[in-house]
Amino acid sequence: MLKTVTATAPSNIALIKYWGKSDATLNWPANDSLSMTLSRARTTTTVCINDHAVAQEQHSLAFRGHEARRPTEKTLRFLEWLRREVEAFGPAKGALAITTQNTFPSSCGIASSASGFAALTLGATGAWLGKDSLADLEAAGITNDLLSNWARRGSGSACRSICGGYVLWERGETPDHQAIKTVFTPSYWQLADLIVLIDQSPKQVSSSDGHVRAFTSPMMRPRLDALPQRLQHVAAAIESRDLEKLGDAIEQEAIEMHEIMKTSSPRTEYFGAPTVEFLDWLRQSRQRGDFQAWFTLDAGPNPHLICLPEDASLIRKKIEATFPGTPVMEDLTGDGASLQAGGNQNGH
Ligand code: PMV
Repeated sequence: MLKTVTATAPSNIALIKYWGKSDATLNWPANDSLSMTLSRARTTTTVCINDHAVAQEQHSLAFRGHEARRPTEKTLRFLEWLRREVEAFGPAKGALAITTQNTFPSSCGIASSASGFAALTLGATGAWLGKDSLADLEAAGITNDLLSNWARRGSGSACRSICGGYVLWERGETPDHQAIKTVFTPSYWQLADLIVLIDQSPKQVSSSDGHVRAFTSPMMRPRLDALPQRLQHVAAAIESRDLEKLGDAIEQEAIEMHEIMKTSSPRTEYFGAPTVEFLDWLRQSRQRGDFQAWFTLDAGPNPHLICLPEDASLIRKKIEATFPGTPVMEDLTGDGASLQAGGNQNGH
């Protein structure tokens, strides 16, 4: 059998952040989080299975246009773990030849590990089981929730990239009871996300290390106590399509996560003066009534500006005029991951 499938998975931007784990191996988060799935920032991964090559060492991974290599130890460990899970649903044999591509630069505050591990989970599962659609996987008992929980083991935030729209990741009572689901569809309220690429260099401290450090911050306990209420507030703002209410809450949330980082030991800073200057300009522009947009940040220096889609191109022009040479990616609320037969025909 030689089976080739292509999975595509979007990135997502957290509105309520996942920062801190109760169990690092199981990726059991310290708190529930809520994200918006993106549409254009995505990973497309083609997986070809060759069941004549059975040894796990023979998995290969290539970034499109580059030579195939042995995947990293983290990816190999994940694939071995996933293969054992998939085997409960059918024989999952053979080495994987993986080709992957992002529509955006990685390691710069756009969650490439989220879309990357979501696409890899879906592609590898489809290839091993000979299934080439989500409907076929579902018929075999592999639901979106199960796929999300599998992707979570690769990178926590990847679980939210299986689903579309606004996605809630509940930590559950135990690590086995985590639930990931769409709470509002993309068409319920489509928003734009302008991703301002202030600095594209790879981050100095991985989010895995950051999650561990979070608990050394004296602000972590009060944060965890207050978060359920903030999450409810954000969900209510989405439900009532109230951008100002949503915007105020997500800015507070992003600042708080970065305060946790700064008060962790060792102290961790993911952004410097250029980001501060940009955020000051954003606040002043909003106060002057130039436009309506609110920021959030991941573990990186590049702000995501959440605004109405009809305002996005005007805001983008203002950013480009004020900060010449700073690329801006325009994105929208989007659908979840998908799977199809064959190789990647269209190159993205
Ligand atoms: O999935 P990880 O381990 O890369 O953690 C992601 C953490 C943040 O992007 C900063 C927040 C989030 O909820 O996505």
